[in-house]
Amino acid sequence: MRIAVAGATGRVGRHVVELLENGGHQVVPMSRAQGVDVITGEGLDAALAGVECIVDTATGPSPELGPATEFFTVAAGNLQAAGARAGVRRIVVVSIIGIDRFTGGYNAAKVAHERAMLAGTIPVRIVRAAQFHELVGQFVEWGTRGDVVYVPRMQTQLVDPRSVAEVLVEQAVAPDGGEEPARVEIAGPRAEDLVDMARLLIAKRASNLRVEGVSDPDDPDAALQESGALLPGPDAFLAGPTFERWLATTDHV
Ligand SMILES: NC(=O)c1ccc[n+]([C@@H]2O[C@H](COP(=O)([O-])OP(=O)(O)OC[C@H]3O[C@@H](n4cnc5c(N)ncnc54)[C@H](OP(=O)(O)O)[C@@H]3O)[C@@H](O)[C@H]2O)c1
Repeated sequence: MRIAVAGATGRVGRHVVELLENGGHQVVPMSRAQGVDVITGEGLDAALAGVECIVDTATGPSPELGPATEFFTVAAGNLQAAGARAGVRRIVVVSIIGIDRFTGGYNAAKVAHERAMLAGTIPVRIVRAAQFHELVGQFVEWGTRGDVVYVPRMQTQLVDPRSVAEVLVEQAVAPDGGEEPARVEIAGPRAEDLVDMARLLIAKRASNLRVEGVSDPDDPDAALQESGALLPGPDAFLAGPTFERWLATTDHV
C-alpha cells in the first residue's frame, strides 16, 4: 500500500515511517525538510500521487491556542483537499486523549484539528494518544527559571511514541468497514504525576535544579489536567515502557 506520512521526521512520524517500511509498504515522507509543506501546499499534489492513505503527524512550532489552531485547520483543509484530488481513501490523525473539555492552549487547538479533519470528504480515523515520554523534557526546558523548574501539576499516562506509531499504522492498513470515524486511545502502562517524572529526569541529568509543581487555580484547564482529564478511558490500548524504564534506557534526556 502507498501511504503518505505528514510530519515524517517528527517524534512519532519517524516511527510511523519505519514501521510502515518494515511492513513492506511504500512510504511517502512529507515534511518541509523533505520538500512538502502542508501549510503552503508546496509539493503536496506531487507527493500524494497514487497514495491510498495519509497518516497526519505534523504539528507547527507554537503550542499557543491561536497559532496552533491556525496551523491545524489550514493543514487539515490542505490534506483533505489535495487528498481528495489524488483519490486518497483514508486519513489517520494523531490527537490527544481527553481534550474535549479544554478551552485554551494546544489541547483546544487539537479539538479544532479533529473538527477540521472530520469536515472533509475523506473518511478519518482518529488516534488519541497520551503525552509522549519526551514531553517531560520539554516541560523542563519551558519551565526553568534560574535554579528552579516550574512544572504544571498534571496526571498523565506517559507513552512511548513508538507505541503510538504502532496504533497509527494498524489504523492506516486496517480493512475498510466498521463505524466511521473510528476513534481509539493509546496510553502508557500507568498514570504518573508529571512533577515526579520531571524530578526523575533531573536526577538522571545529575542536575542541581529543584522541581516545583505549579497550578493556576483560576485556569479551568489547569484544574482539568490536575484532576486526571488527560488519562485514558477503559477501552484504551496500553503499552510500555513506563517513563522510568524508558529513562533508564535512553540517552536522549
Ligand atoms: N508530543 C506529545 O506529547 C504528543 C502527545 C499526543 C499527541 N501528539 C500529537 O502528535 C503529533 C506529532 O507531535 P510530535 O511531538 O511528534 O511533533 P514534532 O516532533 O514536533 O514533529 C513535527 C513534524 O511536523 C513537520 N512539520 C512542521 N511544519 C510542517 C509543515 N508546514 N509542513 C509539513 N510538515 C511540517 C516537522 O518537519 P519539518 O519541520 O521539516 O517540516 C516534523 O516532521 C501532533 O499532532 C501532536 O499533537 C503529541
